Amino acid sequence: MSDNFSIYIHFPFCERKCNYCSFYSLDNKPDLIPQWTEALCQELEFYEEQFQNKNLQTLYIGGGSPNLLPAESFEQLFSALKDFTDLNHLKEFTVEINPNNIKGRLLRTMRNNGVDRISIGAQSFFQDELNVLGRLHAPKQIKQAVVRVKNFNFPRISLDFIFGIPGQNLNTWRTTLEQAVNTGVEHLSLYNLSYEPGTPLTQKVKSGHKDALDEDLEWQMYKQAHEYLAQQGFEHYEISSWAKPGARSIHNQTYWNGTDYLGLGPAAHSYYSRTRRWNSADLQNYIDNLSQNRRPTFEKENIDDYKYRLEKLFLSLRTNQGINLSELSDLYLIPEKSIKTIVDKELGYRKNNLVVFSKNNLKLSLRGWFLSNSIIASLASKFDSYQKGDQP
Ligand SMILES: C[S@@+](CC[C@H](N)C(=O)[O-])C[C@H]1O[C@@H](n2cnc3c(N)ncnc32)[C@H](O)[C@@H]1O
Ligand code: SF4
Repeated sequence: MSDNFSIYIHFPFCERKCNYCSFYSLDNKPDLIPQWTEALCQELEFYEEQFQNKNLQTLYIGGGSPNLLPAESFEQLFSALKDFTDLNHLKEFTVEINPNNIKGRLLRTMRNNGVDRISIGAQSFFQDELNVLGRLHAPKQIKQAVVRVKNFNFPRISLDFIFGIPGQNLNTWRTTLEQAVNTGVEHLSLYNLSYEPGTPLTQKVKSGHKDALDEDLEWQMYKQAHEYLAQQGFEHYEISSWAKPGARSIHNQTYWNGTDYLGLGPAAHSYYSRTRRWNSADLQNYIDNLSQNRRPTFEKENIDDYKYRLEKLFLSLRTNQGINLSELSDLYLIPEKSIKTIVDKELGYRKNNLVVFSKNNLKLSLRGWFLSNSIIASLASKFDSYQKGDQP
């Protein structure tokens, strides 16, 4: 187990579920927030021994809609975190918020207690696109939220947007990007809409009531974002992340470089000691167990060598650094020359402009990022076959 770690806290409450979202959150249950807070403080105690000599690098409260957290609950949580570990090593403390229902008192309390980065779920600057997504806010509330957060002196703000929304086109997407840049924030996360099983939006598309966009149009949108944001001084440093110099998300980078993290709250995932654990996605079960001083129900999975290599490849290739060739060679026990043969001759990825070899690293191109799941899976499968004795 390494000396550094990060913490993710899952806040499982929303005002209303959005049509596309499958993250674990409950709507209309604000009465349970104090019990969730109490349970979370108790969950921390289970990890004291294991993590007491480690340095907490980053904290992230996500959800759900953590802007619904009462200021007193935030204070209670922060005080439990201070008792749990030394917060002096903290490099970043992010909280996710929605553009509507933001309370000044919570912002002030968060800023006074070390939160230095706010991530706002903006999604689109067009009302009809927000309606398709089932969002509760209007476009103008995004700008108001940014101004509000800036007024409380949060040094770093990020905005999330979605491309591939039914009805969206290259013009509306371009306008959304322009307005995002005009807010002056220095970090953007742009996600390709994914149709999650069981969500209302997926059902509408399946039943023919809405049309999903063409994959080629989604690709044009991704390319447009890449090109336009480069002109505006943003580095595209990970598949879905763009930052002005010096404004990359430190917390997300700890995921991509494989640092240990502790996930607290229902449905949260943790990774440490080469084991992944996840709490059950059941708030009542979480509260009941912890109120009786029992660990919440969780499952775990050992990350054996096969999974470790696969995850390392998936996480590294998400970033614009890619993976170092000698590291890749050690990981799969393949000579660097054979890596190049597999990539070039067997898969033809270089001539099809899906990967790039640069400064001793293997990286995905922009097109490679867009198709990353299938490309990385094929690379991993070829490298594994080599290890089992199939020579290229
Ligand atoms: C889990 S949400 C929490 C943020 C906050 N509750 C909000 O919605 O404003 C984090 C981000 O995930 C993205 N997201 C959630 N579901 C998605 C999906 N099906 N496809 C693409 N992006 C998605 C959204 O952009 C959202 O801002
Ligand atoms: S996208 Fe955000 S606000 Fe909407 S349901 Fe998911 S977590 Fe809640």
